[in-house]
Amino acid sequence: MSPTFRCPSCGQQRLGTSGLPLVCASCGFAGTTPGPAPRPAIEIREFSKRYGTSMAVEALSLDVRAGEIFGFLGPNGAGKTTTIRCLLGFLRPTRGSLHVLGLDAWSQAAILHHRIGYVPGELALYDDLTVEQLLRFIARIRGRIDEAERARLEARLKIDPTRRVRTLSKGNKQKVGLLQAFVHEPPVLILDEPTAGLDPLMQEEVHEMLREARAQGRTVFLSSHGLREVEEVCDRIGMIRDGRLLTVESVDELKRKAPRLFEFEFEDEPRIEEFRHLAGVTDAAVQGRTLRVHIRGDADALVKAAAAHRVKRVDARDVDLEEVFFRHYGGGPP
Ligand SMILES: Nc1ncnc2c1ncn2[C@@H]1O[C@H](COP(=O)(O)OP(=O)(O)OP(=O)(O)O)[C@@H](O)[C@H]1O
Ligand SMILES: [Mg+2]
Repeated sequence: MSPTFRCPSCGQQRLGTSGLPLVCASCGFAGTTPGPAPRPAIEIREFSKRYGTSMAVEALSLDVRAGEIFGFLGPNGAGKTTTIRCLLGFLRPTRGSLHVLGLDAWSQAAILHHRIGYVPGELALYDDLTVEQLLRFIARIRGRIDEAERARLEARLKIDPTRRVRTLSKGNKQKVGLLQAFVHEPPVLILDEPTAGLDPLMQEEVHEMLREARAQGRTVFLSSHGLREVEEVCDRIGMIRDGRLLTVESVDELKRKAPRLFEFEFEDEPRIEEFRHLAGVTDAAVQGRTLRVHIRGDADALVKAAAAHRVKRVDARDVDLEEVFFRHYGGGPP
């Protein structure tokens, strides 16, 4: 039987089919019936992983929505690869649970491996095989590979399939890693630093592949050290350090919160006291005739205070997310 749905606009009750776009017969409101919220593609709950006596990840919980690109960002040793290995079911969590597409990453790993494309952080490919042989081997593990898709990816990533993996450069090996992750067109991609070692043009190509995957409704979980990378391609970012999740935020939100940096060059030397306590100022420094100020929100008070001097030059720019990120970390870049 169809569920009953109440139009959110006019409140009339009628029959509907959960999740389908509907137009209300009474008021013409177009929307969807309030079906159950879709389950996240990745669900991590109170996950901890200990190696011997050292805790690599502690009580980490996060959801990755179906169809989003999620960036998992943190410095060396933060726990990114450990989390990813547990998501793939290569390691058993010490505590908590990890689910991908509703399946338990540890006990249902074999089924999941058909549905996940994975680029490991440290690629250990089968060195003595050619790229072609490697893909045939992978097809045996993961099931059918679409030949047209394979040829398309090889051309796009500029991979020579006849080459033995051993003879490839680091970047070209990385491209083979990407090829094998994408080639069976999995609904979930879990990528541990997928662009490490790639030149900027190839990095951009991979970013484009990720955006296309998202446009097809696929989900991407991507680890990286580089904020610029995640800023460019991700919808949301989780920041991890010392095994603890610091924050999860949308890239848009992070950008909105980011302060702007104003730099004035005056004809005379300003005093820092004139600017330090102005509305919105988070940080001010004077060096000779130059004033640098970080400001959140509108710059009215700053500009009026600056007008007390003769201004020779003024520059303003958004502080990039790298700086915002390091503020979270406190104590500067890792
Ligand atoms: N097999 C292991 N045995 C013992 N300790 C480990 C092992 N693998 C990782 N660790 C430790 O767990 C912590 C997290 O490591 P992990 O490899 O997950 O970090 P990461 O965020 O991927 O770092 P990187 O950016 O350098 O790849 C580190 O302190 C690391 O030394
Ligand atoms: Mg790692």
